[in-house]
Amino acid sequence: MSKGSFYVTTPIYYPSDRLHIGHAYCTVAADAIARYKRLCGYDVMFLTGTDEHGMKIEDKANEAGVTPKQFVDEIVEGPRGIKDLWKLMNISNDRFIRTTDDYHVAAIQRIFRKMYENGDIYKGKYVGKYCKPCESFWTESQLVDGKCPDCGREVVDAEEEAYFFRLSKYADRIQDLLENTDFLQPRSRVNEMVNNFIKPGLEDLCVSRTSFSWGVPVDFDPGHVVYVWVDALSNYITALGYCNDAYHDMDRYWPAVHFVGKEIVRFHSIIWPAMLMSLGVPLPKMVYGHGWLNFGGEKMSKSRGNVVDPYILAEKFGVDALRFFMLRTFPFGSDGNFTNELLIQTINTDLANDLGNLVSRTTAMAEKYFGNKLPAGGELTEADGEMKALADEVAANYQAQMDVFQFSAALNEVWRLIGRANKYIDENMPWALAKDEAKKPRLLAVMKNLCEAIRVSAILISPVMPDTAQAIFQRLGVPENGRDLDAAAYDLETEGFWTITPGAPLFPRIDMEKELAELEAMAAKAKQDALPALELEPQATENVDFETFCKSDFRAVKVKACEHVKKSDKLLRFTLDDGTGTDRQILSGIAKWYAPEDLVGKTLVAVVNLPPRKMMGLDSNGMLISAAHKEKGEEKVNLIMIDDAIPAGAKLC
Ligand code: MSP
Repeated sequence: MSKGSFYVTTPIYYPSDRLHIGHAYCTVAADAIARYKRLCGYDVMFLTGTDEHGMKIEDKANEAGVTPKQFVDEIVEGPRGIKDLWKLMNISNDRFIRTTDDYHVAAIQRIFRKMYENGDIYKGKYVGKYCKPCESFWTESQLVDGKCPDCGREVVDAEEEAYFFRLSKYADRIQDLLENTDFLQPRSRVNEMVNNFIKPGLEDLCVSRTSFSWGVPVDFDPGHVVYVWVDALSNYITALGYCNDAYHDMDRYWPAVHFVGKEIVRFHSIIWPAMLMSLGVPLPKMVYGHGWLNFGGEKMSKSRGNVVDPYILAEKFGVDALRFFMLRTFPFGSDGNFTNELLIQTINTDLANDLGNLVSRTTAMAEKYFGNKLPAGGELTEADGEMKALADEVAANYQAQMDVFQFSAALNEVWRLIGRANKYIDENMPWALAKDEAKKPRLLAVMKNLCEAIRVSAILISPVMPDTAQAIFQRLGVPENGRDLDAAAYDLETEGFWTITPGAPLFPRIDMEKELAELEAMAAKAKQDALPALELEPQATENVDFETFCKSDFRAVKVKACEHVKKSDKLLRFTLDDGTGTDRQILSGIAKWYAPEDLVGKTLVAVVNLPPRKMMGLDSNGMLISAAHKEKGEEKVNLIMIDDAIPAGAKLC
């Protein structure tokens, strides 16, 4: 019987680049909750999607020489794109919204008009600062050291005619919502919002732009596009059919629980409820602001080059292991530091040793002592009662933790049961019982206890590790009706269970050293591949006056001799014919790129009126001209060689 509906959302991701493990973190958490609520019997709607408009995407598409739509299509729908990633990660979203979907675009125009007609949107002039990467407007006083308070990057001056949303009108109601209800979780985020944003005074929000066109046009004022955050936040209701006919699920699923990263809590806990108040739509049930996965102490970010590719990790270690690691290791709500060592260590300890071994030992012994079906009967002892009590306590605590989105605490509970079951094997020593025919009934009960502890654990881990849970059910022969949360009560009397099919280890142990070395090599290669193929020094912006330039005396010179300078990896010593009849010596730092003997006889270009310089104790009288650029991050230098028909000493002008 359905317990009612449950609607959970992830932020919609910017398809401005490939997603990384930080993005996967929020989606996996939302997926685990969606699966958990389904397991509890709720009618679940799980929404994710992509936030495709805005200046940043327009810029990126221009850089790539494609239209913005082509650009986002590739990242969202293309091979190893966002949709593929969620498939790989076993994400069970019911819907996927793209803000370029026609129904959403039409709905945004209606939403904008609605707020305009009710007087909450008005036309004015925007003067202030804009952070392009965050698509956020800031006032001077909000900047931190003159930079964007969210991402710390440069902001630009912005001044244009724009529409504004009367955010200020809702300040008191929002403050009341944050301070006096459980709307924003964890509670620790409330103070930050109230003190940093509401108390200094909520200003009206600029909700249209005219300086770029990749967005939803304001239909009654062409030239204006809707500010991306209004477009983006509304996805949570347009995906249910608000202001459109693509769906009709507002009554069924709204209000939602929104999972969002901490830096976008502001948009979700202040702007979004104010918009909904203006539209007369009930507020979300909750906004949960989770922490960041950091890498080496910093937020993962493409521009910092510290991103971790979820494809690589999932393919290497398995999707379930990766999902488990993220939710087990980092308390939802706090930041966590992602390291490959920690990932491998968690897999080896919790999954290979604890869970994997328990399943392997139990199924191998059950098959060895009883064939692949455990018969009826068995002799119970007091120790079994203790196991049942623990299992029931674990299941109850687990649910209490999952209900407040504390995945790591919930999984800790399950690992208490798994740990207890492993200890139970050592205490009851099935191998010793098996030696005595008279102890067979006890042996049978021991095996059943173990199977039951594993079955209950598998039910509880199924929202986080769906494939692993299914594999375990299959190995133990657990029928469909023994796989629900309703069936999580520890019960040794259940008939028809325990048809045992042992299999390969669920989580083979990982060789830490070897894997780390491999991952490092892959990361180094990825870093190299990510470098621009060709990098050119930016052109000088400062002019040089013609007279000064003409003072430089460029001459054709012929290489008479060339050799390495002793004790220098860099320098070559050139003996040059410069047309004067006297040899000229120039030292040049190009040993890395040329063998000296290859240069003899070449005609080069030298500046001959630079003051002499001493290098490694030798005089250098001038400078040879070369061209420099970078390829895949590596510096390349080419000497300028000119036609050998040009005589030594000819002036270049
Ligand atoms: N498009 C907006 C959200 C609009 S929702 C109406 C956006 N997109 S985003 O792609 O930049 O970020 C999406 C989510 O990913 C955010 O919640 C953000 O916190 C999360 N993460 C990005 N990097 C992260 C980590 N390193 N760790 C955890 N979450 C991170 O913002």
